Amino acid sequence: MTASPTYGELTNQGASTNIAWHQASVDRTARAEQRGHRSAILWFTGLSGSGKSTLANAVNAALFTRGLATYVLDGDNVRHGLCKDLGFSDADREENIRRIGEVAKLFLDSGVIVLTAFVSPFRADRDKARELVEDGDFLEIHCAADLDVCESRDPKGLYAKARAGQIKEFTGISSPYEAPEAPELKIDTGSQELAESVEVVLKALEQRGVIPAA
Ligand code: ADX
Repeated sequence: MTASPTYGELTNQGASTNIAWHQASVDRTARAEQRGHRSAILWFTGLSGSGKSTLANAVNAALFTRGLATYVLDGDNVRHGLCKDLGFSDADREENIRRIGEVAKLFLDSGVIVLTAFVSPFRADRDKARELVEDGDFLEIHCAADLDVCESRDPKGLYAKARAGQIKEFTGISSPYEAPEAPELKIDTGSQELAESVEVVLKALEQRGVIPAA
């Protein structure tokens, strides 16, 4: 391990010209060794009210209790800051998910298990986030509660507003949700008990060698 970073070639990236990649002297492998666990991106996707944030936060709490380094990126919260300039058009959702994919990648490099809870309705956008990282680092977790269940829960009163025409482009009502075709996990968050869903996720992480067995 060297004390200073090393530099790559000067390149242009989008609107950024004359930039060079700095190879950090403390890398992901060193962090994983120190912490005793790998990092990973747990990408929760599903309709509003499907239980993404609830499940992500419960998994986060269980991992934290085991002493592991974790962090939740939540759609509503991120839209209070990093993505407050974005709305819910297709293009804005695409940019939202692009930013989150990049932020999740940074967390991955930092050695943290990052849990993202975004509707992320478009398959192509989720696939782009997956392609930013190596195979095995990205676990797509479909919170597969049916629309009628989500609508009957309506925790924020948004479905009622969408049905009344007060919210345009609302996912599941007036904007599409493209369910994952081959997610690493599909969880019936409409009927399965939360504790059981948490166990399913933890077991998957153990089986994949992300976290040590409890
Ligand atoms: S995403 O489509 O870009 O992935 P994101 O997860 O950040 O969406 O934000 C979704 C949250 O914003 C929902 O849980 C809901 O609380 C709120 N919201 C407000 N308007 C909409 C809308 N038109 N469609 C979906 N969610 C909306």
